[in-house]
Amino acid sequence: MMHTQPPGLYEAALPEDWPQPEALGFGQILGPYLVHAQHCAESGWHAPSVSARAALPVPMASAGLQYGFSVFEGLKAYRDASDRIHLFRPRDHARRLQHSAQRLVMPEPTEELFMTLCQLAVQVHARYVPPHGRGSLYLRPTLYAEEDALGFRPASRHRLAVAVTPCSDPVLRHNRLWAETELIRAAPGGIGAAKTGGNYAAGIAGQQRARQKGYDDVIWLDALTHRELAEAGTMNVFVQIGNEVLTPPLDGTILPGITRDSVLRLLRTEGVPVSEHRISLDELAAAGMAGQLGTAFGVGTAARLTMIDEISDGSTAIRFRDTGLATRLYDKLKQVQEGATHALREWRVAVPVPSSAD
Ligand code: COI
Repeated sequence: MMHTQPPGLYEAALPEDWPQPEALGFGQILGPYLVHAQHCAESGWHAPSVSARAALPVPMASAGLQYGFSVFEGLKAYRDASDRIHLFRPRDHARRLQHSAQRLVMPEPTEELFMTLCQLAVQVHARYVPPHGRGSLYLRPTLYAEEDALGFRPASRHRLAVAVTPCSDPVLRHNRLWAETELIRAAPGGIGAAKTGGNYAAGIAGQQRARQKGYDDVIWLDALTHRELAEAGTMNVFVQIGNEVLTPPLDGTILPGITRDSVLRLLRTEGVPVSEHRISLDELAAAGMAGQLGTAFGVGTAARLTMIDEISDGSTAIRFRDTGLATRLYDKLKQVQEGATHALREWRVAVPVPSSAD
């Protein structure tokens, strides 16, 4: 593997005015380096390298900027109680990036290349990983078309680059969601299952409408009937009806969340009946009338898990109860992600960091 300096020589101590982990928030402070590799149609993937973040501009005429030929991942590195750093489910993120790339006719990075870039990104930013239990380093691997050309066709030059941002441990929030019945995020046959900027571009107006109406976030409905739950602004959703937990199926219109998958596994391990099932607003309203609605929550890498107190489309307000399930899952997920338990340790991949870099 080629890079310009060995990990460990990249970072001096953090600045003296470095915020406490609880004040980092999300995405505000970016790590100084990008770890990246280029792909050319003629020669395939080149060796990884490390650059100062500002030294890697994206050409204005590239299809990455012009046509949205860009797919990305979001994953986290944590410190365990012994101060060792690990990535959470990186291989699952690599496979999802491959699927997103396939959908947008972009070159698929190998799992090994993805792992190498993510490990190196953590190594050169090791000092930015918050202490155990108090946050994480969020990695944003992004594959984009970089060829400086305006023709509408698959690009001949791409780059996979990993940016990082140290962030606070997300707190367990309570949210009220606006069910958007006019705008849509994704339709059958579209790109809803790809993690690509186009889906976030399609979603930002819904988030803004939700906030203007006094809600915390939007919850998207299916494109055909506008009655079935899809996903929230940046999270997959779960609802509890009676003793069963339901989440919308991966029908190609929603993001196949890695946290969604982790939560399904945790629920099944606990013996909670769970199914991937279509959920309509009308079914939720009826369950509410019958006193069968339990808790509801959203899950995602950045947010971990957020309680949903209410979903409203302006005419019907569906209110959920706190049954303790969401808090239990939040705690369990945090433990598994941070390596505070041996359970599911196959989800954690150690990142060796030379002591001089830490
Ligand atoms: C994530 O949770 O990793 C996401 O990609 C959401 C992001 C828009 C903050």
